[in-house]
Amino acid sequence: MDKLLIRGGTPLDGDIRISGSKNSALPILAASLLCPAPVQLHNLPHLHDVTTMIDLLGCLGADITVGHNLSTEIDAANANQTIAPYELVKTMRASILVMGPLLARFGQAEVSFPGGCAIGSRPVDLHLRGFEAMGADISIEGGYIKARAEGGLRGANIFMETVTVGGTENLLMAAVLAQGETVLENAAMEPEIVDLARFLNAMGAKIEGIGSATLRIQGVNELHGCEYSVMPDRIETGTYLVAAAATGGSIKVKHTDPNSLDAVLAKLRESGFELQSGDDWISLQSGGRRPKAVGIKTAPFPGFPTDMQAQFMALNTIASGSARVTETIFENRLIQTHEMNRMGANIVIEGNTAIVTGVEKLTGAPVMASDLRASASLVIAGLVAQGETIVDRIYHIDRGYECIEEKLQQLGADIRRITD
Ligand code: EPZ
Repeated sequence: MDKLLIRGGTPLDGDIRISGSKNSALPILAASLLCPAPVQLHNLPHLHDVTTMIDLLGCLGADITVGHNLSTEIDAANANQTIAPYELVKTMRASILVMGPLLARFGQAEVSFPGGCAIGSRPVDLHLRGFEAMGADISIEGGYIKARAEGGLRGANIFMETVTVGGTENLLMAAVLAQGETVLENAAMEPEIVDLARFLNAMGAKIEGIGSATLRIQGVNELHGCEYSVMPDRIETGTYLVAAAATGGSIKVKHTDPNSLDAVLAKLRESGFELQSGDDWISLQSGGRRPKAVGIKTAPFPGFPTDMQAQFMALNTIASGSARVTETIFENRLIQTHEMNRMGANIVIEGNTAIVTGVEKLTGAPVMASDLRASASLVIAGLVAQGETIVDRIYHIDRGYECIEEKLQQLGADIRRITD
């Protein structure tokens, strides 16, 4: 089992290149199933979840050609399977995103029911209710969601009572081949959904309202091939900015999109950091200053992203002052606080809020994480702490951060991967 060994106390300093967005690459890969012609995808991140999704597409009969730096051609012309097996779905919940494309193109789909995970129960009821509104019959049998749409899907007006990223993505993909018009109301507006919609339109879909909470889709008969480059990962971007801020260092993150994380940049400025940005880069200088504690309340985009909550929790542990960190999206996403307290942090949990009182220093310790972003927050805590931290179960990290130890070594961190 791999672990990360970190000796903290070194301010990060340098430049790094941001990888393609995991949470954009996954729905875009799934959407390639809608197209009976090859699509070329660029800037895919080298991540376990991306290779799992590519494996799943292969399992469904798509022909995949992986080229230089993971530029990938997906040819789903001969895709002929409509069952997403348990063995693959159990390793990656995002497999549920093939349901919309399979239903839309083939009129049927069977996907192993995705279980919950450490951060919450992760239901998919809104996905399924939306498919039913579009004329699909849904049943749950033997741990599988079975969906059929005899005669194909038809357009519908769908109001999603909870803002759901995956639900919006699944229903958007289903709607592009449905007969007639679909309106998705209270749709999620995350940049990853904008990226997916742009990809779908590049294949000939007719989507209006991109970037808004109301998406209007005119169904088309068939899509055509295209070439598309996945957006940069805004959460990876925010994670490295916070790591540099927490360690009293400076950083320039390149090949990113400064317009996709306004709420995060605002919180870094509120914490006392100077930021500059250009078309595709952001730089932060801490000047060795100690962060000021900042209150966080997660919310759907354009609010503060839940995927950056744990990283700011780490920043707040050594900040001057105290702050409240409230998680409103997932019911169990404050779990990393217990490990941080083992490193000397002072965090008290009250319901869905953590009250963090900054301390002068953290002390390294063996820790383990239970989800991707919690793992990243413990790496940040380890970079800040005095002494040695060993982060266990880093398979979580490998799902969402490409070459994390190499990128941090490039920034001067004393970090290496060990296997015991
Ligand atoms: C996506 O998950 C992301 N994953 C998550 O990133 C991210 O945290 C989340 O959106 C919120 O931004 C991918 O894009 C692969 P949701 P998703 O549906 O789609 C409830 C990471 O670390 N809900 O927006 O599963 C749900 O319980 C991961 O990269 C329903 O009730 O999130 C939650 O409380 C973690 N019924 C809320 O909506 C449904 O049918 C938001 O979930 C669907 C969701």
